[in-house]
Amino acid sequence: MSNQYKVAVVGATGAVGETMLSILAERKFPASAVVALASARSAGGKVAFGDNELLVHDLATFDPSSIDIALFSAGGSVSKEYAPKFAAAGAVVIDNSSTFRYDDDVPLVVSEVNPHAARNRPRGIIANPNCSTMQLMPVLAPIHKAYGIERINVATYQSVSGGGRSAMEELGKQTAELLSFQDIHPTKFPVQIAFNLIPHIDEFQPNGYTREEMKLVWETRKILEDSSILVNPTAVRVPVFYGHSEAVNIETREKITVEQARELLGKAPGVEVVDAHAAGGYPTPVTHASGKDAVFVGRIREDFSHPRALNLWVVADNIRKGAALNAVQIAELLVAEGLPPKAAGG
Ligand code: A2P
Repeated sequence: MSNQYKVAVVGATGAVGETMLSILAERKFPASAVVALASARSAGGKVAFGDNELLVHDLATFDPSSIDIALFSAGGSVSKEYAPKFAAAGAVVIDNSSTFRYDDDVPLVVSEVNPHAARNRPRGIIANPNCSTMQLMPVLAPIHKAYGIERINVATYQSVSGGGRSAMEELGKQTAELLSFQDIHPTKFPVQIAFNLIPHIDEFQPNGYTREEMKLVWETRKILEDSSILVNPTAVRVPVFYGHSEAVNIETREKITVEQARELLGKAPGVEVVDAHAAGGYPTPVTHASGKDAVFVGRIREDFSHPRALNLWVVADNIRKGAALNAVQIAELLVAEGLPPKAAGG
C-alpha cells in the first residue's frame, strides 16, 4: 500500500485555503485525513472537501503532532507564529506567505522549475512563491536556460482575489454601489478599485518600489538560481476577480526568435501557448485562466526596439497556479521523494 499522509490546511476558510482543499480532493492526494484549520471565529463551521465537508478547527488550540504535511495560507503573522510549531512537531510546512521566502535555509519552489530545491529544507519549511512570480517562472525558466535572460521588464495586472476574500467582496460591493449611484467607502484598498486601477500593492519600500514589486526581483533570482538577472517591475491591482496578467519584456544574452520561443514554450511543462493573431486569439483572465491549472502565454513578439528582446503576455489563475495548486504540487514532490508518514500505513 502506498504512503498515506495526514494533511492540515491552515486558512481553510480563505480564498486560497478553500482552493487548496478542492485541489487536494481533485488530484486525489494520498491523504489518510485532511484537517481544516482557521481562526476561532470559524471553528465549528464547515468547508467543502470534494463531495464531503470538513469541520473547521481552531488553529490556536490544535495539536499538530500527528500532521505530516501542513499547507499554510492564513497570512504572514499566522505563518510566523505557527509554521515553526508545526515544523517542530515533525510536519513539513508548505507556506504561502512571504514570511520565510527570502531566508537562505528555506527553499522557494515552483514545482516545474526547481523541484530539486524542495529536498533541502533544514527548517522543515518550504516556501510557495508570490503569485506574480509564480506564473512567470514556468515561462521564463526554459528561455533562461537556453538563451540566458539578462533583464526582465514586467508590468502586472493583478486581480483582487490576490488580496483575499475581503478584497473580492470590496470590488463586488463598490461595483454595485457605483452602478446604483451610491457613495463608496474603500476599506481594503487605499482608493476606489471598481472601474479603476491601483499602481500600489503591499508596502512602499525606501527605493520607491512596492514590496509586491520587489518580491518579483528577489524571488526570480532565488528560483532561477541566478543573482545576476535584472528585474524591473511595476505591480498594478485591476478590477478583475480571478487571474493575474503580466506584460513582460525580456532581454536575452543570445537572440531568441518568435519561432524559437513558441517551440520552447510549446514544450514547457505547465505552460500553454495561445497566440493566434486574431480577435480572442490571446489569453485573458476570464476566457482562459480562471479555474485552470496552466500558465497561458500569448502576444509573443520580437521587440523591434532592441536587438535581443522578446515581448510576452502571461496570464494565470493566481489562486490556482499562483498559490494553491503549486502548494499541492510541492506536497506531491514530498510524496514522490517517499516522505515517511508518521502513522505507518496511514
Ligand atoms: P477565518 O476565516 O477564521 O478568519 P483570506 O486571505 O481569503 O482572507 O483568508 C485568510 C484565511 O486565514 C482564513 O481562512 C482565515 O480564517 C485565516 N486566518 C486569519 N487569521 C487567522 C488566525 N489568527 N488564526 C487562524 N487562521 C486565521
